[in-house]
Amino acid sequence: MKAIKVRANNVSKSFGNVEVLKGVDIEVRAGEVVVVLGPSGSGKTTLLRSLNLLEIPDGGSLEVCGHHVDIPADKRFDRAARREIALLRQRTAMVFQSFNLFPHMTALQNVIEGLISVKRIPRDQALMRGLELLAQVGLADKRDSYPSSLSGGQKQRVAIARGLAMDPEVIFFDEPTSALDPELRDEVLGVMRELADQGMTMLVVTHEVRFAREVADRVIFMEGGRIQKDCDKEAFFGAESGERIRQFLGRL
Ligand SMILES: Nc1ncnc2c1ncn2[C@@H]1O[C@H](COP(=O)(O)OP(=O)(O)OP(=O)(O)O)[C@@H](O)[C@H]1O
Ligand SMILES: [Mg+2]
Repeated sequence: MKAIKVRANNVSKSFGNVEVLKGVDIEVRAGEVVVVLGPSGSGKTTLLRSLNLLEIPDGGSLEVCGHHVDIPADKRFDRAARREIALLRQRTAMVFQSFNLFPHMTALQNVIEGLISVKRIPRDQALMRGLELLAQVGLADKRDSYPSSLSGGQKQRVAIARGLAMDPEVIFFDEPTSALDPELRDEVLGVMRELADQGMTMLVVTHEVRFAREVADRVIFMEGGRIQKDCDKEAFFGAESGERIRQFLGRL
């Protein structure tokens, strides 16, 4: 069995009196690609953000890339827990629907920013690594372009390169292609597929059924703040997955 990269136990989260995550358990092993599907408002984004503590859950425990965090009842983390959270975040990357690039920085500067400010890598080395990563996502020629002059698909590929720069063990993707025109989606999905082929551990919230069918190892279906189904993709897309899943897939 491959090592566990992400494990959540009984993770709960409410916003006001809306219970958004109702005790979620999830496990992702090294090299796995797990796709999360589910209707709008089912808690997919909240789950992803909870896994790297961009959102602090109300309860439960997490173990991500070997870093363990129990959520205390009062949500106050002691010094040791804060250190675990910082380390956990450094081992993961997040790719958002909205790219979140720095508009005043070129593609290359966006990619190397974390290398310089977080990892304290000397500038010339960071530049070399940044150029390699831009080449990997097919954008070597855009190194000096600002986000405003890049297409959505190019922006998202820069964002992926920026995530890769931190050398993550796991990448969380939150609907990375849903802000893109259909013809730009494939170039982003192609980069994601290559990462999967290279053995990257990925948890991907997406409505791209073809990507799920072709690239995922497992599919998780969320609804109403709960994981309603968690199975390998053959079972998920097969006839035995049940009426609700068939209906959901039929609407996509
Ligand atoms: N910061 C917040 N404050 C208050 N409510 C929130 C917040 N973030 C999310 N919610 C609510 O929590 C619920 C789940 O939201 P979430 O964004 O996790 O769903 P989702 O499955 O990602 O949906 P979508 O497919 O539309 O992205 C929604 O009802 C949403 O309105
Ligand atoms: Mg969402």
